[in-house]
Amino acid sequence: MFVHVLGSGAGGGFPQWNCNCTNCKGVREGTIKANPRTQSSIAISANGTDWILFNASPDIKKQLDDFPALQPARQVRDTAISAIVITDAQIDHVTGMLTLREHNKPWDVYTTKAVYEDLTTGFPVFNILGHFRGINHHEIATDESSFTIPTAEGLVFTAVPLKSEAPPYSPHRHNTVPGDNIGMRIEDTRTGKNLFYAPGLGVAEPHVMEYMANADMVLVDGTVWTDDEMSHEGISNKRAQEMGHLDQSSKGGIMEILSGMDKPRKFLIHINNTNPILNEESPQRKTLEAAGIEVSYDGMDIEL
Ligand code: MLT
Ligand code: MN
Ligand code: ZN
Repeated sequence: MFVHVLGSGAGGGFPQWNCNCTNCKGVREGTIKANPRTQSSIAISANGTDWILFNASPDIKKQLDDFPALQPARQVRDTAISAIVITDAQIDHVTGMLTLREHNKPWDVYTTKAVYEDLTTGFPVFNILGHFRGINHHEIATDESSFTIPTAEGLVFTAVPLKSEAPPYSPHRHNTVPGDNIGMRIEDTRTGKNLFYAPGLGVAEPHVMEYMANADMVLVDGTVWTDDEMSHEGISNKRAQEMGHLDQSSKGGIMEILSGMDKPRKFLIHINNTNPILNEESPQRKTLEAAGIEVSYDGMDIEL
């Protein structure tokens, strides 16, 4: 299967429009070694022609402009995106659906029941799309049963409920239910290889650890280095944990968890603009790399 990272940043991207933190200022002015990042999204393909979009970021226009494989190539109105999977109802993962409103037929969209509810009530993106060509909604079960998508022949998808956080406009905020956030195991039955994708991971429960340990590639929550990082420069008093993200550097954090796993190639995605690992010359980035963990980047291609 082909894996393409469209956006490796967290909500706000990097640099964030209104942020003057060390990283954002540094990348804007070119004084640190770091690359700009659009907001969190990947695309997966079984055949290199038909692609499944995972999350639709507010930056999707730029992401499509930068990735020719998804661009119109067959008829006057066209896209290589054949279906959309949404892992949670957060703004950075769904707002791009509005940009995709000109599609000439209903989008095939896969979400859990909890995400569907948020996207038809608190943030009614699906209702709005109903005034255009609408969506064909496919409900993703939260019992770890597998499903297939017709345009991804050979791939088998398994949704894994994660403990993370529902968006501020959800009735489940701070009171989450299974399905508010999912990770996804994507197996290519032709090669036997599998990817585990989880851009929002608040707690590494045993079943999640197992999915990660058995994957050939993990692409997981890289939001913050430390839980209180957003308060360092007076940006926000929110802790990452409150927002449903597990940090990298603490005991029991993502770095320790991943470094104990031999099988997968390990990548972080959904990196917040406050995270010191964005600076390629930072000691934190060096520590991460020494632990065998890579930082995914916009435009990254992996064939699995
Ligand atoms: C999150 O994952 O917590 C988000 O990036 C928040 C947002 O998009 O505002
Ligand atoms: Mn996010
Ligand atoms: Zn910033």
